[in-house]
Amino acid sequence: MELAGALRWFFVFLSERRTLQEWVTRNGWVRRAARRFVAGETLEEACDVAARLNAQGRAVTLNLLGERTTRPEDARAAAVLYRKVLEEIHLRRMRADLAVKLTQLGLDLSRELLEETLHGICAQARRLGGSVWIDMEASRYVEATLDLYRGLRASGYGPDTVGVALQAYLYRSERDLEFLLRLGARVRLVKGAYAEPPSVAYPRKADVDRAYVRLLERLLREGEQSAIATHDERILAHARRLATAYGIPPDRFEFQMLYGVRRDLQAQMVQEGYRLRVYVPFGPDWYPYFMRRLGERPANVGFLLRSLVREGP
Ligand code: FDA
Repeated sequence: MELAGALRWFFVFLSERRTLQEWVTRNGWVRRAARRFVAGETLEEACDVAARLNAQGRAVTLNLLGERTTRPEDARAAAVLYRKVLEEIHLRRMRADLAVKLTQLGLDLSRELLEETLHGICAQARRLGGSVWIDMEASRYVEATLDLYRGLRASGYGPDTVGVALQAYLYRSERDLEFLLRLGARVRLVKGAYAEPPSVAYPRKADVDRAYVRLLERLLREGEQSAIATHDERILAHARRLATAYGIPPDRFEFQMLYGVRRDLQAQMVQEGYRLRVYVPFGPDWYPYFMRRLGERPANVGFLLRSLVREGP
């Protein structure tokens, strides 16, 4: 296994350890370090960050952190908060949409519960002229996620109201892109953030990058309002060249990046006149998300250790 892959695997492993989560989230210095990637624990803090980013010409995706919910009341509570987020976006006239994780809304519990929570959020989005992205989680959830997405579309939610993420590292994604394009879906293309076995995903980073470029070329040509979600400078340059070559104007697609990651590149894209959206997560359940961000880049572990040396545990 490559070093980068091993690091990611290790942090995804840690992200699933609930006992470590309890210890880590009680620790003041880790909480402060996590603020680099997480807007805060409350909706108010997230709205402040969103307003700041909007003022810098960047649109926002708000995400209430939380995944793999084990109690129906937690799934329902998350759905209530998401509807509230949509209301705040509307009231404050923010350039913002929403991203949800289906395991947060009850995917592991029951189909009925998930449909209740998800449809409630999408109905609210449609009523307020808002928009929802469905994040893609570990590979065992992909089939169900795409199935639910198809169900939403069949229930009359258009691509403006609901879009879905697609992970380039999965072998199946070329087929899934085909399916999504036929459905007229709005797609956010990402590399993929979970630790997957070589039976389902490319183990080598170079192969993931190549797969991303293949999917990107097709998505840019055939997709509508597609989102190119990466901080990979080579891929971003390639996407800009392709858009020019295919004659696709900058208002037909957007770039998306994560809060706290490559802020220099984010500013550059806006300056060049491209549409940029920043994914802004918030909420008390930040531990798994933070662990995945640490595992994406060895330098982030150094950053965490430096803050430990500075502040002490
Ligand atoms: P890559 O990992 O090759 O990084 C390219 C460069 O970006 C690095 O060299 C570094 O400079 C910088 N960089 C990347 N990650 C960094 C980090 N954590 N800290 C500091 N610098 C970093 N995944 C998923 O499985 N399901 C999903 O639904 C989503 N949704 C999503 C939305 C948006 C808007 C983004 C940008 C990403 C996701 N992801 C995701 C995460 C995605 O799968 C991937 O893990 C990260 O984007 C990192 O990969 P890059 O494409 O940036 O490339």
